[in-house]
Amino acid sequence: MQPLATAAEIALLNRLNLRGRSSDAKRRGLVGDWIERSRAVWGAWRLDRCAAPILGGIDARRFESIRARFREADPDPGSSKYLDLRAWLRVAVGRARGLGLHRRPACDLLDLGSGCGYFPLVCRHYGHRARALDLDTNALYNEMIELLEIDRGVVAIEAGVPLPAFDTRFDWVTGFMVCFNNHDREDLWGPPEWEFFVRDVVDHLLAPGGQLHLELNPERDGRFATPEIERVFARAGGTVRGGVVRVPARARG
Ligand SMILES: C[S@@+](CC[C@H](N)C(=O)[O-])C[C@H]1O[C@@H](n2cnc3c(N)ncnc32)[C@H](O)[C@@H]1O
Repeated sequence: MQPLATAAEIALLNRLNLRGRSSDAKRRGLVGDWIERSRAVWGAWRLDRCAAPILGGIDARRFESIRARFREADPDPGSSKYLDLRAWLRVAVGRARGLGLHRRPACDLLDLGSGCGYFPLVCRHYGHRARALDLDTNALYNEMIELLEIDRGVVAIEAGVPLPAFDTRFDWVTGFMVCFNNHDREDLWGPPEWEFFVRDVVDHLLAPGGQLHLELNPERDGRFATPEIERVFARAGGTVRGGVVRVPARARG
């Protein structure tokens, strides 16, 4: 768990004259709020700074033409929301940094259900080889994938059907805001479908030391996964926390 305040934050707080302003408990509350707010501001500023060079590398004229044609096509929560380039690049930078990809040697990634391809774009920016898989049914995604030159294979991920074979294995197989499990549909994947998928990824796609990282969407009952599905991930040696699934490659031997 993150400490409430780092040594630097405590030193800074000591210099602020909060003493005598309120009771100890109130002061601790104010301090906690202040730390949280400063962290949020600092975090947003840092993500913005990291996203800026990536944003600068995108052909603004071509993006503007895409934006003009698609901004009303599928309003929020639909896919037009992804036209807020700055915001979604920040999200993708946060995801990449969360996996430590900003400070590790070049590796191979496969992003499942990539949408506009922002996550593979950020991975490429950090020096990695990133590929994507997705449907080709959304014209906005298709145009963004082309604009950002993402290496995307067109594949419908389906229950009980193995993912395509690749000429390499991957250090990370990722999926964010996952929908390929038939999210929000009557035929939502259950334990057998997840069992097949996880086994397929572990057996055929992950490199030694690799990891499957999925961020699930909440379902109609508000849960990310049922306890039975969580047990599928656990049996594969993985964990689920707040909709984030991690499954490691099988240990060799
Ligand atoms: C909510 S979007 C998330 C996009 C991206 N991962 C992100 O976080 O910005 C869901 C994505 O999953 C893709 N998708 C949905 N069903 C799929 C399936 N059966 N096979 C492959 N991709 C699928 C959609 O085309 C879309 O790109």
